[in-house]
Amino acid sequence: MTAEQPSARFGRPLWRRLGLVGIALAAALALSACADEHPLDTLTEAGPDAQEINDLFFPVLGVAIIVFFLVQGAIVYLVFKYRARRREAAAAARAEEHSGDGDDLYGDDEYPAQVHGNLRLELAWTIIPTILLAVISVFTLISLVELNEVSAAEDDLRVTVVGQQWWWEFQYHLDGDTSTPPDIVTANELVMPVRQQVPLEITSRDVIHSFWIPRLNGKRDAVPGRTHPWVIEANEVGRYMGQCTEFCGLSHAYMRMYAVVLSPEEWEEWVQGQIVDAAPLEPGDPGFEGQEVFLANCANCHVVNGVTDVNLDGRLDGMIDYAGANSITSALVAGAAPNLTHFASRTTFAGSIFDVYEGRAEWIPYLEVAERGDLNRGHLAAWIRNAPERKANDADGARGMTAFPGLTEGEIDSLVEYLTTLR
Ligand code: CUA
Repeated sequence: MTAEQPSARFGRPLWRRLGLVGIALAAALALSACADEHPLDTLTEAGPDAQEINDLFFPVLGVAIIVFFLVQGAIVYLVFKYRARRREAAAAARAEEHSGDGDDLYGDDEYPAQVHGNLRLELAWTIIPTILLAVISVFTLISLVELNEVSAAEDDLRVTVVGQQWWWEFQYHLDGDTSTPPDIVTANELVMPVRQQVPLEITSRDVIHSFWIPRLNGKRDAVPGRTHPWVIEANEVGRYMGQCTEFCGLSHAYMRMYAVVLSPEEWEEWVQGQIVDAAPLEPGDPGFEGQEVFLANCANCHVVNGVTDVNLDGRLDGMIDYAGANSITSALVAGAAPNLTHFASRTTFAGSIFDVYEGRAEWIPYLEVAERGDLNRGHLAAWIRNAPERKANDADGARGMTAFPGLTEGEIDSLVEYLTTLR
């Protein structure tokens, strides 16, 4: 055995391990770059609240990187400088075996200078991190206060956000009064005006969810029986993806949403379109057969304002019922499924997992999708036929949309036709 071998054999696995970590990091970076867009990107803020968070995040990250390299550098340096060399260790072990005295593998002279109890060092590495953390916590507290600040006027738009396994409901209070029934109820797509702060009241009908549209603001839990205030605001017109970010059951990963940000004019137009009820179809109208099938099969859970005759007060009372722990799996009645009054005006369904129109119709102005979009008939029919097959319900099937094995293909087609009339 030559003198070179031991250190070479000690060194190789460490370098190999570092190499593997490096390859893994590079692969992760490369793979994340494969997506053409980063819909859940926290780093490219698109609103003042997300900006506030990043203004805190990046300086803290900078400090953390400096500390990381200082500490890790010191550790790596010391590990190398004072590593045991196999030949010396073996000689020391032999010496100890022969002499039989002392419980130490190394002689005292082989220890580096010991700094335990060195007052200056101990003070330094206690006080410096304390100051760092204190400064960071002060800026964090300031940011927390600012993130919760409501600048919108009392009578400005407010939206109640209701999480439910596994989709989001948005109840619009155009006059800002959340104690009265909402003016508009929609699902999965939070349509909002650009450059206007929208105060939110976040709650849940069943278990704990968490509301998160990363390019616009941080996370806020949706807890049954409680209402958490939050705000959201976007600087630019566009669509921003969101995701439930609290594990809430089998289809948690499929509980997404979009914030759809419109110009003030488009926003006004959207409101005027949404605020009206659907007109009940008459015999002979396109979609009339589908409406009959809908009333017979779907109206137990789904509301179409003006057609299913469920008043909004009743829905709000029901919401309080769902917050009760014992009703989590039992109460799936009208109002606990997405309101479909203007279904065809949305671009996604089923927790924003599926597209109503081909290619999510992102190239079409949002208000024109119902007019110009290419309907995803196959997706819609498959969903109506057997929803749990496409998106898992919970084990006893009490949450999420049920399957409809009794519907004929003709009835399913007529239902899809009916949905296209709900603009
Ligand atoms: Cu809702 Cu996770």
